[in-house]
Amino acid sequence: MMQESVKWMGAGFGAALVLTAVTLMLHGSDNKSTRLALELTARFSFVLFWLAYAGGALATLFRLDALVGRGREFGLAFAAAHLVHIGLVIWLGVLMGRVPLSGGLLLFFMVGLVFTYLLAFLSFGGAKALGQLWRPLRFVGMNYILIAFARDFILPVLYPKPAQYNVAHFVAYAPFAAACVAAPLLVLAVTMRQRAA
Ligand code: HEM
Repeated sequence: MMQESVKWMGAGFGAALVLTAVTLMLHGSDNKSTRLALELTARFSFVLFWLAYAGGALATLFRLDALVGRGREFGLAFAAAHLVHIGLVIWLGVLMGRVPLSGGLLLFFMVGLVFTYLLAFLSFGGAKALGQLWRPLRFVGMNYILIAFARDFILPVLYPKPAQYNVAHFVAYAPFAAACVAAPLLVLAVTMRQRAA
């Protein structure tokens, strides 16, 4: 189990690192390119998170055997890929000379990080030790992280700034915003179907 986990974490981290390296090599390592790398790696780690959140439901609905029972692996790959996000945030902080976010927003995303790494850490045996507490903790943590992503993807679609009235902006946000809404609906639909069966 351990070897398999390391493989998934390595793949998530490695792919996010390559994406960052290519972005910074092509565009430089200034504030603007670092933000671009943050936006790209956030989308990559979101795909992994989405599969951890809703991959099981998708597998049930569409008989996608490759996704069955892979929630933990995708979750670990997400947590590892998101380390690159943190690395980029630290680099952006160096460039700006301060922590890039502040106040309530900083706290909001820091809580997301705590849930990310708490769930990843507990999945190595701690979940079993927690017994009945694990499921509610996982539910709260996963939905909190989903809301953190949703905040960044949905708000720019609902309230674009004047400079963001263009197709490229819409394409960069709308599919991810839709995926944020679809994930809990998919899980709910499968849960209800299983309860009705
Ligand atoms: C689980 C926790 C987190 C999630 C889910 C998350 C998600 C995201 C997403 C989706 C983006 C892309 C936004 C866009 O395309 O407009 C992003 C960018 C960014 N994130 Fe995070 N993030 C997290 C943690 C953090 C933390 C803790 C910080 C800072 C201390 C941070 C700082 C940033 C910054 C500065 C950007 C670039 C924004 C820009 O384009 O100007 N993030 N994050």
